[in-house]
Amino acid sequence: MRKVLVTGGCGYIGSHTIVDLIDNGFEVVSVDNLSNSSDSVLDGIAEITGKRVHNYPVDLCDLDATRKIFEEHPDLSGVIHFAALKAVGESVEQPIRYFRNNINSLINVLDCMAQYGVHHLIFSSSCSVYGNAKELPVTEQTEMQEAESPYARTKQMGEQIIADFSRIHPRHNSVLLRYFNPAGAHESAKIGESPINKASNLVPVITEAAIGKRPEMTVFGDDYDTRDGSCVRDYIHVMDLANAHTKALQHLIAGEQKAPLEIFNLGIGEGVTVLEAVEAFMKVTGQKLPYRVGDRRPGDVVAIYANYDKAANELGWQPERDINDIMKTAWAWEKARTEAVAS
Ligand code: NAD
Ligand code: WQD
Repeated sequence: MRKVLVTGGCGYIGSHTIVDLIDNGFEVVSVDNLSNSSDSVLDGIAEITGKRVHNYPVDLCDLDATRKIFEEHPDLSGVIHFAALKAVGESVEQPIRYFRNNINSLINVLDCMAQYGVHHLIFSSSCSVYGNAKELPVTEQTEMQEAESPYARTKQMGEQIIADFSRIHPRHNSVLLRYFNPAGAHESAKIGESPINKASNLVPVITEAAIGKRPEMTVFGDDYDTRDGSCVRDYIHVMDLANAHTKALQHLIAGEQKAPLEIFNLGIGEGVTVLEAVEAFMKVTGQKLPYRVGDRRPGDVVAIYANYDKAANELGWQPERDINDIMKTAWAWEKARTEAVAS
């Protein structure tokens, strides 16, 4: 059985990816310092898969502690590196914390991969590396613009660091996955998005408002030049996203890569407006959502969505779920976690 080290394995995308990896026959070891998660997610993973994953509660900025994990697992087939701080607004307030955490942890992971001879890396990148893209849909060739936040800059820098690392390590192969807007939860409602930091992304804000954790949700602007005036994004279901990681790892293990460093966009290729997302939520769940239209949010791009042809052609990956599936599973998860807290 192939063993993979998942960093940030207790986080939102990491935990869903662990489920997909186990479903596809991988053994998983997680390292997560729980700075934005809880290891109780491992119970949910065990309930879904029947496998208990071990998490090392280690800060990847600690090189010695990170080395020990690699030492204990000399048989790793690869690393999927999710661990990072990801709140865009917070990164504007605390840029050094973001650079320190996201860059140091990546450098330590690369250092250990070189030292312990682990050659396959999947890296969580983001559509935010494109900045205010000048063409839509965005392909992997679309020219990157200035990063809109220190967070986005850590992703641009991370990509460059991996590229430079690849040049001097001929046996190393990396896949950079640029996610668009991940949302939704595992269909079982046993795991989902459960950050320690206050949610600010659209879908958790919607479900929290619907269940009464917030008085209402605000649509940030309806006077943009889009079909209904609200911003357009490409929302990708977290389980489709998870499966792309498994496929990317299988692609590297099978030696199918065309270059030592490959980049793939992961979205569904369709733009959905904020008002359409709100409508989808109400239609799919039958719930009322208290919402109002407010001011534009500073820094928001008007519209961005992906062309994912490259991932389809080279990884054999296809998203299977849409915004309705996202709302359905996110709502089931919101209800489940709210009930768990109440009981
Ligand atoms: P998350 O916060 O739920 O998960 C990240 C995990 O990494 C957390 O559990 C956190 O405790 C852990 N972590 C952070 N710094 C660490 C460190 N120094 N050492 C050990 N563990 C550490 O976030 P997520 O949404 O699952 O995102 C996963 C990755 O995907 C991140 O790299 C993020 O930047 C990227 N990404 C996320 C989105 C999104 O909208 N969720 C979009 C594009 C890219
Ligand atoms: C989506 C849309 C908001 C909340 C962020 C990061 C990006 C990537 C994905 C990590 C926008 C609108 C939102 C609300 C709203 N993450 N909205 N009311 O900003 O597209 O992308 O997550 O890499 O880097 O920037 O995602 O979910 O915050 O917003 O109207 O209460 O929903 O204006 O149009 P965003 P989001």
